[in-house]
Amino acid sequence: MIARTIIEPFRIKSVEPIRWTTRVQREELLKAAHHNLFLLSADDVLIDLLTDSGTGAMSTHQWAAIMEGDESYAGSRSFDRFKNSVQDIFGYKHVIPTHQGRAAERILFGVMCKKGDVVPNNTHFDTTRANVEFTGAEAVDLLIPEGKQPSSQHPFKGNMDVAALEALIARVGRDRIPLVMLTVTNNSGGGQPVSIENARQVSAVCRRHGIPLYFDACRFAENAWFIKLREPGNSSKTPKQIAQEMFALGDGCTMSAKKDGMANIGGFLCTNDDRLAQQEMNLLILTEGYPTYGGLAGRDLEAIAVGLNEALEPDYLRYRIASTAYLGKAIAAEGVPIVQPPGGHAIYIDARAFLPHIPPDQFSGVALACELYLEGGVRSVEIGTLMFAAAAQMDLVRLAIPRRVYTQSHIDYLVEVILEVFKNRERIRGMRLAYEAPFLRHFTAHLEPV
Ligand code: F0G
Repeated sequence: MIARTIIEPFRIKSVEPIRWTTRVQREELLKAAHHNLFLLSADDVLIDLLTDSGTGAMSTHQWAAIMEGDESYAGSRSFDRFKNSVQDIFGYKHVIPTHQGRAAERILFGVMCKKGDVVPNNTHFDTTRANVEFTGAEAVDLLIPEGKQPSSQHPFKGNMDVAALEALIARVGRDRIPLVMLTVTNNSGGGQPVSIENARQVSAVCRRHGIPLYFDACRFAENAWFIKLREPGNSSKTPKQIAQEMFALGDGCTMSAKKDGMANIGGFLCTNDDRLAQQEMNLLILTEGYPTYGGLAGRDLEAIAVGLNEALEPDYLRYRIASTAYLGKAIAAEGVPIVQPPGGHAIYIDARAFLPHIPPDQFSGVALACELYLEGGVRSVEIGTLMFAAAAQMDLVRLAIPRRVYTQSHIDYLVEVILEVFKNRERIRGMRLAYEAPFLRHFTAHLEPV
């Protein structure tokens, strides 16, 4: 077969204009935003790669399903569709809708964790870490060593270090570990996948010690595609079969449907444990809503029910993973240091290697993200010292690609912007903090150039 260009597996029916600004305007806007890209007005951004969360384009099937939304307070038909769709893929007994992923996290950890507990994960995402710590428990990252080396080409850099997990259990004792989590794909570590073999090993350790295993499933479909491509014995399976196989190794999951749920809002919490589910639903009623809507509208449940299956379509995943790799390969070919191999939802620039003249305590990731905005109106996000403080293993700038939103020419423009900044990198200065909040400081921090 001739290898042709992998194209967007859709045509565009509705468009949203984007707005140009001049460099002089952007300098003013950035100053007014205290050098924190979260504080910009989205209208002042040309290409917005802040996140792939809730920023995707919905399909005609999703919009049609939205019109079928049943907004009944209790026993909504839309909940049944949502639950069936989730159970078909994830296979867990209880499905608890939440308004987004972190609400599922708060309820899960609120029910399972207490002060003195320890929660291992391959790498906690920021909200996951914050929600674990909010209960007084300790969040421990147990990523394999290759996952911390940006240039390593290991195919499953999101894997958990199984020996380190065993050692942690031996050190702190099983009773202090209420659950183990696996994040697929590993967002904070470069959007890197977890292999089914690693999940199997982690699951076996958990089973042996009687510790429940939960998945942070945000990007489960992209993870399944990487398994299909890279892990021997999986190439003839469908992404859905791979996802089902993986989730069968666990006892439940948290999910942000704003990622591989292909929706603009929503999430859920699943568990096989009847007693926990009861407690979780009681908490849900207290803060999210009745268990058949959990903080969502019936139409949101419909969009997710359809979206979860669209995220698993092979044509979509082929395009998704290839188009993210297209960006990564284009800039890496010119010497830009990125986390290799390219991730599923994003490309991560290694800011420490990009800006070696900036000292580690001067937020090289923030400095680079600001420069990309000044140069081309591109918004990215720092994942490093500002986000994680002392726990940061790397300083990365994440270019997250919203699902089904940007075309190849947007990405070509982005490549030009990045390469221009790379050419002039020696002129970029470090940053210092002018204001920080007590937790999740990156959202509201104020910075200034050194
Ligand atoms: N877990 C992971 C791995 C995530 O990437 C996110 C969100 C969450 C949990 C929380 O989900 O936002 O629906 O409450 N990540 C977004 C991002 C915000 O930009 O990576 P949420």
